[in-house]
Amino acid sequence: MYPIILLCVVVALIFLYLIGRYNKNYWRKRGVAFYDKNKVFGLFWDFLTTEKAMFEILSEIYKSNENAPAVGIGSLMTPSLYVMDPQNVHHVMQTDFQSFTYRGPIINEGDLLGDNVLFMNGPRWKLMRQKLTPFFTAAKLRNMYYILDRTAQDFVEHLKQNPQKLKGNGFDRANEFCAAAIAAAVFGIGTDSSFVSPFLKMARDAFTLNWVTHLRYTVAHLSDSISKAVGVKFFKEQEPFFIGVVKQMFRAAEKDEIKKHYFTDICLSLRKAGVMKDLETGEELEPTDELLAAQGFFFYVAGVEPTASALFGALTELGKHPEIQAKLQKEVDETVEKHGKVTYEIISEMKYLDQVLNETLRIQTPVGFINRICTRDSVLPIGNIEVSKGTKLYIPIFDLHFDPKYFPEPEKFDPERFSPENKGSSDMAYMPFGKGGRVCIGMRYARLQVLAGLLHLLRHFDVLTHRVPGSRKYAKGQFQMRRVDNDIELIPRQM
Ligand code: HEM
Ligand SMILES: *[C@@H]1O[C@H](CO)[C@@H](O)[C@H](O)[C@H]1NC(C)=O
Repeated sequence: MYPIILLCVVVALIFLYLIGRYNKNYWRKRGVAFYDKNKVFGLFWDFLTTEKAMFEILSEIYKSNENAPAVGIGSLMTPSLYVMDPQNVHHVMQTDFQSFTYRGPIINEGDLLGDNVLFMNGPRWKLMRQKLTPFFTAAKLRNMYYILDRTAQDFVEHLKQNPQKLKGNGFDRANEFCAAAIAAAVFGIGTDSSFVSPFLKMARDAFTLNWVTHLRYTVAHLSDSISKAVGVKFFKEQEPFFIGVVKQMFRAAEKDEIKKHYFTDICLSLRKAGVMKDLETGEELEPTDELLAAQGFFFYVAGVEPTASALFGALTELGKHPEIQAKLQKEVDETVEKHGKVTYEIISEMKYLDQVLNETLRIQTPVGFINRICTRDSVLPIGNIEVSKGTKLYIPIFDLHFDPKYFPEPEKFDPERFSPENKGSSDMAYMPFGKGGRVCIGMRYARLQVLAGLLHLLRHFDVLTHRVPGSRKYAKGQFQMRRVDNDIELIPRQM
């Protein structure tokens, strides 16, 4: 018995050794530096065996390969590359987008809620993206802004009536606001904002960070074939609840003639128009309840987790910088008092608010990095790096935002980086929402939701930031980047 086990172990070790050597040679032949720490499992070795977030592991690579345009990484037998130079990043995301249209990981058949525009690829993605884009135009946002505004006002009332919520768990509070706002925007549910709902629980569950979800994340990213073989499904637990709710919502909305500017309306009109067709590619998609539910599901979870992270991030930074907070409150107070109420138009009048949000999204960027898969051979301009079809790419957000070459004194929270005089100086390296053909479709919506929450909170409260003793700086996230060493206290303002 023992000799057989021993033999298996030896064979496996030789196998792993050969894969490692293959990976290293693969990139050496292309003149690209290689991440030596684990040649077989690459990033995922540290991810599964340490407390580090994925973006922190990438960040170590970034820092120890200063000035390298890209670094090769082992990922079993799939070539993987960390693209670091902003011009190479630009090439992948924008200039040669047609060669990098997949994001990854590839979702398995039967993961119904995973069949959303974030994970879709190829012609299906293109068609779905086209059909969803109309939900996010400026005109749509202007029409629906009142929903966000009402939710923000209700939230302020809710906090005043529940003063125990003013201190501690600031991220949870931001989550409660965001969940209520996006639920109202996506489904138009309720006449009163609800800050504790089964939806909020679902959104939290969908992004729970624990070893089970870390392992699932690892398998999905490490190897498509293993992921397929073991049948990884990301959102199976949320499926019955969410699809059920969406079906009910459609039935109810079908009976109601009134236009509400909600996601439900888009879905209903897509369904009425029948099979979606892309004339260019011939691709067809049937707007089933499941397909539409999957899109709504992703909008919903994206409207909660990263958006709450941005709102909480803004509050913690303002709580650390009373002079910036006072300047912002002055702008908000004056603008709101001048107009009597908050509308879509007056938000765009508040220039300093915009600067504060942009700097927040730099220093507390909710998404730490981006994935792409190469779908057609290409050459990265800096370093003349050949990238073959099938290669998995990692694109930095955090590392670019914290590189002193692009943002001097990167640890300093300074909204003046985005003042009219300084604006544009580091555009290439700034991309909290990604860029190019697959840029965040919800960008303008997400900004509006954060701004609505932020400005109503600042009208009624001052923010103080406290350190959380003994905490790591960042949560152990997958794609997320979230600071956990700060918490906030809201103090009612004397008006
Ligand atoms: C502050 C909040 C948010 C941040 C920081 C954020 C960030 C991002 C990033 C970095 C990407 C990847 C972009 C790329 O690959 O180039 C992305 C994709 C996406 N986001 Fe967001 N997002 C936020 C909120 C939202 C919201 C509220 C929605 C929907 C209502 C949304 C919908 C999407 C979709 C559908 C994609 C995939 C687009 C595609 O592949 O075509 N996001 N987001
Ligand atoms: C803030 O960022 C948004 C989107 O990235 C951009 O449209 C806007 O011009 C920026 N504002 C400033 C003041 O830089």
